[in-house]
Amino acid sequence: VSDKRLAAVAPSGMSPSGGAPNLPDHSQRESAGEDWRNAFSATSFDQFAAVAVDKIGELLRRQAVEGVTLEDPAALMAEARALMTTNEPGASLESGLDTERFARIVDLYFRTGIKVGSTGYMARQFSRVIPAAAVFDMVTAIAPQPATFYEAGQLANVADKIICQEFARRISWNHETCDMITTSGASLANLTAIVAARNDRLSGSWAAGAASTARGIPTIAVGEDAHYSVSRVPGIIGIGQDNILKLPLNGRRQICALSAAAAIEAARAKGRDVFCIVASAGSTSVGAIDPLEELAEIAQAAGIWLHVDAAHSGAFLLSDKVRPRLRGIERADSFCVDAHKMLFVPSLCTLLFYRDGAKARGAFSQQASDFASNPASYVFDDREDAMSRFESGGKNFECTKRPAILNLWLVWALFGVDVIAQKIEYLVDLTWEAYRYLSLLPDFAVIHEPDSNILCFEHRPHGLPDGRVSALQRALWDRLRTEGKFFVSKVDIDGRTVLRAVFMNHEIDMGHVKALVAEIRHAAGEIG
Ligand SMILES: Cc1ncc(COP(=O)(O)O)c(C=O)c1O
Repeated sequence: VSDKRLAAVAPSGMSPSGGAPNLPDHSQRESAGEDWRNAFSATSFDQFAAVAVDKIGELLRRQAVEGVTLEDPAALMAEARALMTTNEPGASLESGLDTERFARIVDLYFRTGIKVGSTGYMARQFSRVIPAAAVFDMVTAIAPQPATFYEAGQLANVADKIICQEFARRISWNHETCDMITTSGASLANLTAIVAARNDRLSGSWAAGAASTARGIPTIAVGEDAHYSVSRVPGIIGIGQDNILKLPLNGRRQICALSAAAAIEAARAKGRDVFCIVASAGSTSVGAIDPLEELAEIAQAAGIWLHVDAAHSGAFLLSDKVRPRLRGIERADSFCVDAHKMLFVPSLCTLLFYRDGAKARGAFSQQASDFASNPASYVFDDREDAMSRFESGGKNFECTKRPAILNLWLVWALFGVDVIAQKIEYLVDLTWEAYRYLSLLPDFAVIHEPDSNILCFEHRPHGLPDGRVSALQRALWDRLRTEGKFFVSKVDIDGRTVLRAVFMNHEIDMGHVKALVAEIRHAAGEIG
């Protein structure tokens, strides 16, 4: 601490009246060498926020149909470097309020990113978020409240319970006995749920390891199209990547329940202890929803934990119209839903539900007595009280965690849940219409009936040999993402590369789908 700083704080001691101690006098902090404080000031907020509000307003009003602009990374890095304050030794701190540079940085961010608000954007499972939720995200960023512990984030812990009750009601779960925690992403939620499954079904494995407690080789059964965060888990938790049982899919790329039952039985007969089935509700590649009811039946009969990765389509639970597509999810032991996908709030916010709330604590079964001096005692306390029952710390992998649930709760509080449900219904209907339209075109082939709002297809110009179809889709994808007005993704399925449209933007209509088709045909003509 510099002498000047000490001078600003002195004199200290008791007040002349002998009451509370004198507080430091900050009035001299404007002095030279103290300007770093400007960066933290309310004035700084006012000035930068005003620029951001203007820029965001412009972005939201933008009507252009535009794809992504991919820049040369080296050139972009040079541009980003040129915007940086150098802080060379001996140089004065540049903590003045450079709103002009701030504006250039915001422009650079917008210019180089995916254009989720464009009607040309059909590439990924990201949507423009509900602006009120984004504004509130700024509120929670400015006034951070780590949401894992009740004393630090009271409202977030209460909101977890409210959102849990709302979902529970829609699937007839008992809200007193089920539980929900929020995690930073479905990847972490899938990992957490599978760890809970292992600890529950292979009892004692938290302490002794799964290998010594299983009745065979510990094994996880997943569909062929499971998200990569699921198929990574056995490697992460020491079960081993070789101990994944891949369940075959049917023609709609859903797990085939009949074959799954046979595969699990055969695996058990060969000495495998299948302790968890992971189903998908909205697979990443085609949005397929597995037959949850049938899989629940199989799991229950065999004493296996059923986890549903409903990161994408779990949001359907909020719509009376599309909820029936998730029939059977209420029988799962756990499922997760990405609120930053189809609930249209800022990332990351994932809801991880447990039918039996007591199992939520089982994921991380740490005991205070695990260590002589309890290193977790700065946040965990052994005494149960009204507050500790609300907090998620013991059930979460994360320690510091943003109160992201509040963005969802705020949307629910301000608008009601129908704004989300109606957008979902629009997107699902649009995808079905696009499916019907593409199916009738002689030079397009749709590869599945859509269960959600993802549609995969190929462009097959007349006379194109089968052996060249995948190469053409790859070339089309490259072309579209470098110079197209439309931006779709590609996915490799059973050795074929196909184009993938994810309808996340409710401003898209069939006119845009037809324009995409025209752009693809034109690009194919140019590729030759
Ligand atoms: C089905 C599915 N599961 C899990 C994930 C991973 O989710 P997150 O990015 O929130 O970790 C995704 C992401 O696209 C997904 O589609």
